[in-house]
Amino acid sequence: MCLLKAEHITKKYSGRTIIKDINIELNQGELVSLLGVSGSGKTTLFHVLSGLTTPEEGKVFLNGEDITSKPGQISYMLQKDLLFPHKKIIDNAALPLVLHGMKKKEAREKAQTYFKDFGLEGTEYQYPSQLSGGMRQRAALLRTYLSSNGVALLDEPFSALDTITKTAIHKWYLEVMQHIDLSTIFITHDIDEAILLSDRIYILNGKPGEIRDEIVIKEKKPRAEDFYLTDQFLAYKRKIIAKL
Ligand SMILES: Nc1ncnc2c1ncn2[C@@H]1O[C@H](COP(=O)(O)OP(=O)(O)OP(=O)(O)O)[C@@H](O)[C@H]1O
Ligand SMILES: [Mg+2]
Repeated sequence: MCLLKAEHITKKYSGRTIIKDINIELNQGELVSLLGVSGSGKTTLFHVLSGLTTPEEGKVFLNGEDITSKPGQISYMLQKDLLFPHKKIIDNAALPLVLHGMKKKEAREKAQTYFKDFGLEGTEYQYPSQLSGGMRQRAALLRTYLSSNGVALLDEPFSALDTITKTAIHKWYLEVMQHIDLSTIFITHDIDEAILLSDRIYILNGKPGEIRDEIVIKEKKPRAEDFYLTDQFLAYKRKIIAKL
């Protein structure tokens, strides 16, 4: 089932066309990534999808309902994790629930039930500065998930992590995606990451940015973390490099 759909999106800033005639879809349970060089308009597209900015042309639909220029329908995690430094992890995670009108105690209880799945057990009453970068990123993902209504946009969620932490978080993400019903579009520059995690990859390129290609990753899920050592993986990678 198609959850999120963007049709013929064109966005300009100061008369300059940044992205042009973009068409994308996100189906239930899918992880779709948006791969493209710096400046191709990936973040701009997220601003349109999330309703933070109005496109010159085109529409965005969530479950068939027009949500163009309506913020607050889809949750959006910015590249920086943006946890509030003065709030404990549990309250950072529970914040979207409180903002939606839930009582603080109830919101904490609901958030608490996910701490184990997100590998955050024991960090509830710590502050962001006491956690490693990878853990902060997981806490930010938990917060995004709790406010998601099933759809999340993640802008380079793992790019600030070192390779070892990134590998561990990829493994964790492949596992956690099996438990939670979350459909995701995520932005990355990292071709390996896109192939490892995605069901489909859109390649956004050019000036103005356009969707040049869509690549379906057929490898069954859950994927083994050593998928990236296989011949199939390299074949996908060659195909993508040729198109970038
Ligand atoms: N608010 C804005 N006003 C004017 N120009 C903007 C604005 N936001 C983005 N741009 C321009 O749009 C272009 C695309 O920017 P965008 O941030 O969407 O690219 P990106 O693909 O996310 O890049 P990166 O991979 O570096 O994050 C850039 O040339 C940028 O300068
Ligand atoms: Mg960006």
